[in-house]
Amino acid sequence: LFRQKADSILALMTLEEKIGQLNLPAAGDFTTGQASSSNIADKIKAGQVGGLFNIKTVAKIRDVQRVAVEESRLGIPLLFGMDVIHGYETIFPIPLGLASSWDMELIKKSAQIAAKEASADGINWTFSPMTDISRDPRWGRVSEGSGEDPFLGSEIAKAMVRGYQGDDLSLSTTLMACVKHFALYGAGEAGRDYNTVDMSRQRMYNEYFPPYKAAIEAGVGTVMTAFNEVEGIPASANRWLMTEVLRDQWGFDGFVVTDYTAINEMIDHGIGDLQTVSARSLQAGVDMDMVGEGFLTTLKPSLEEGKITEEEINEACRRILIAKYKLGLFEDPYRYCDIERAENEIFNAENRQVSREIAAQSFVLLKNEKQTLPLAKQGTIALVGPMADNAENMTGTWSVAGRFEESISLMQGIKNAVGEEVTILHARGANIVRDSLLESRVSVFGKPTYRDSRSEEELIAEALEVAKKSDIIVAAMGESAEMSGESSSRSSIELPENQRKMLQELAKTGKPIVLVLFTGRPLAIRWETENLPAILNVWFGGSEAGDAIADVLFGKVNPSGKLTATFPQNTGQIPIYYNHKNTGRPLPEGEWFQKFRSNYLDIPNSPLFPFGYGLSYTSFKYGDVKLSHSQLAGDQTLTAKVSITNTGKYDGAEVVQLYVRDVVGSVTRPVKELKGFQKVFIKAGETQEIHFELRQEDLKFYNHSLDFVFEPGDFEVMIGTNSMEVSKEIIVWND
Ligand code: IFM
Repeated sequence: LFRQKADSILALMTLEEKIGQLNLPAAGDFTTGQASSSNIADKIKAGQVGGLFNIKTVAKIRDVQRVAVEESRLGIPLLFGMDVIHGYETIFPIPLGLASSWDMELIKKSAQIAAKEASADGINWTFSPMTDISRDPRWGRVSEGSGEDPFLGSEIAKAMVRGYQGDDLSLSTTLMACVKHFALYGAGEAGRDYNTVDMSRQRMYNEYFPPYKAAIEAGVGTVMTAFNEVEGIPASANRWLMTEVLRDQWGFDGFVVTDYTAINEMIDHGIGDLQTVSARSLQAGVDMDMVGEGFLTTLKPSLEEGKITEEEINEACRRILIAKYKLGLFEDPYRYCDIERAENEIFNAENRQVSREIAAQSFVLLKNEKQTLPLAKQGTIALVGPMADNAENMTGTWSVAGRFEESISLMQGIKNAVGEEVTILHARGANIVRDSLLESRVSVFGKPTYRDSRSEEELIAEALEVAKKSDIIVAAMGESAEMSGESSSRSSIELPENQRKMLQELAKTGKPIVLVLFTGRPLAIRWETENLPAILNVWFGGSEAGDAIADVLFGKVNPSGKLTATFPQNTGQIPIYYNHKNTGRPLPEGEWFQKFRSNYLDIPNSPLFPFGYGLSYTSFKYGDVKLSHSQLAGDQTLTAKVSITNTGKYDGAEVVQLYVRDVVGSVTRPVKELKGFQKVFIKAGETQEIHFELRQEDLKFYNHSLDFVFEPGDFEVMIGTNSMEVSKEIIVWND
C-alpha cells in the first residue's frame, strides 16, 4: 500500500525533486523566525531536501516543516533526524554501560523514553543503535556500542530497535531507528577511528554481522553506512554490502543513509571524483546522502551521461517516501510537533528516576576486598579526583540534546545520600590529563573542561591533606566524557599518568581507597587493581549519575553489572576477547609462558577482567551443571540446569551465562561462545534453579562456503558467573 502511494507521488515528481529527496543536509544555524529566509529554506522550497538533522524543538521544526509542506511545489514533508544515542534530554548511561546491565527490558525502556522525549520535541528519526562489534578499546567509539559479543550485541540491537520504533512507527511517541555503521566500523586497524578494515567474510558473518542482522530482523527502518572500507571498497560504495548482503540476503526493505559526508570522503579513499563516487554509491544501494550533497549536485549529469539510470534514482526516492508514509508524515506533517507534550514529557521527574535506576544497574564492581563497599554513613569521607565535582562530564559522549550542566555530580549525589550524617572533604587532586593540549581536544562540545591552574604537586598536597583528616578516600577518576566517542582513539588505555600519580600518593597514606572509575572504554588498570581495595566502574551514567553512584556506594542498590568487553592487562594485549580461537599452539590453562606456545614473554594471556565479569556485595555459589541429555539427535532440545545460592548477606541479582564450544568443526571454532544469559534476582540465603534450552539452530555457524550449517559432533556446554569461571559438561549432538 505504501509503495503504491509512494509511486503515485513519484509519478508527479521532476527529476530534480526526486534527487532532492535523497539529500539530507545538517540544519546549520536554523532558528525560529529564519526558516523562510535561510539558504536551507530556499533549498526546501525548491524541493531539494528530503530531511534535516540536528534541529530540535517543536517551534523550529514546525516552522521548517511548514516551509516544506506549504512552500515547495509538491508539499512533501521532511524527515527530522538526530543522534539520540543514549537518551534525548534525559540521558541514560553510555551504550557500553547500558549493555553492562544485561537487562534487555531496561535497555528497551531507555530507548522508549528516548523516543518519547525526542518525538515530543519534533524529531522522528534517530541515528541509533550503533551495533558495531569492537575488540579494540583503543577505538573511542567502543563507548557507543554493546561490546565484543555478537550474541549479546544482537539481543541489545533488537531491544533498542523495539524500544525506539514500538509496534507502530506512525505513533507520535516513536522514532524510526537507524542501525549503524554498516559495516565493520568497529574493526579499524590499530583502533584508530575511520581506519582501514580488512577481514575474512567468515569472520564478518560469524562475529561482526549478527547484530546488524538482528536489527534488520527486528524491523529497523534505516541503515547507516560506515566510513571505512570493506574488502578494498568503501562501505558507502560497496554494492556487495548494501545490496547483496543487506537486501538480497537479509531482506532489508527500508532505506540506507550514508554517514556524514561519507560519499565525498571516497574521493580521499581514492576511488574517483565526486561525480564518480556519488554514482557508485547510488548504484551500490545507498538512498540518502548525509550532508555532502554529492547526490544533489552530480546525479543529474551522471544520468545524462548514462552512468546511472532513472530507475535507480526512483528506487532510492521511493524508499524514502515509503519511510515518510510509515511515519505518518503525509497524513499529518506536524504529527511530532505538539508543544504540550514537549513541555510535559521531556526531562521530567519520572524519566530521570528511570535513568537513575538504569544507571545503578550498569555499574560494574571490579574489586571489593574486605567488603570495603558498601560504605557506612558515618565519619569523614575524602572525595578526591577530577570527576568528583564534575556535572558536565556525567552524561558521556554523544549526548547532544542532554542537559549536561544539570546532571547530578558525584559530590551532589553523595551529599543527597548522606545528609548531615557524614562529613565530606573535597579536593580535586589532579586535572583530567597532565597535558593541556590533550585536554582541549577532549573538551565537552568544544567547551574546554574546567582546569585547575595549580601545579600537580599543589593539587596532590591538597588531596593528601583532606585524606589525612578522613576515614576513607573515594577517588573519582578516569576519563572525561569526550576521551571516548567519535574521533577519540587512544594509543595507551591506562589511567592518565598524573591521575595515577595522585592515587599512588594517596595509597601511601594507608587509608582505604575506593576508586570510582569513569570511563568510556575498557581501561588497563593493573596497578590500581593490585593496589586499591575497591573499584567501582561507573562508565558515564547519564543525567542522574551522581545519585545512582551514591545508591550503590552506600548499599541502597547492590551492584550487578557485568563487563561486555574484556579489560586487558595492558594496551599491548589488544585485541583480546573471550571468544578467540585456540590456535595450534595454545598455552595450557593457568600457565603464563611456555617456549614455542602462543603467548607473551612479559604478560600472561589472561585478561585483567574477562568478558562477563562483575562482582556483587553478596556471593553466589553455583552448583554442578546438569544436562538433560549426553547424546542428542536432530531437533531435540537440550536443557541445561544449574542451581545458584545466594550465600552472602545481601539480596542481589546475578547474570548467569551459558557458553558453548563446538569442539571439532570443518573450520576452526572459538574456544567458547555466549549462547544464553539470564539475570536473576536471588534473596540472601535462597537458591534458584536456572534453566537454559539449546537447539541445533543455536549451534549453527557460517562455514567456509558461508552456508549457515549445523555440524554434528562434540560440544562443551559451560555455565558460569563470567566467561572464565565456568563449569562444563560434554555432549554429543548427532544429525
Ligand atoms: O550518526 C552520526 C554517526 O554515528 C557519526 N557521524 C555523524 C553522524 C551524524 O551525526
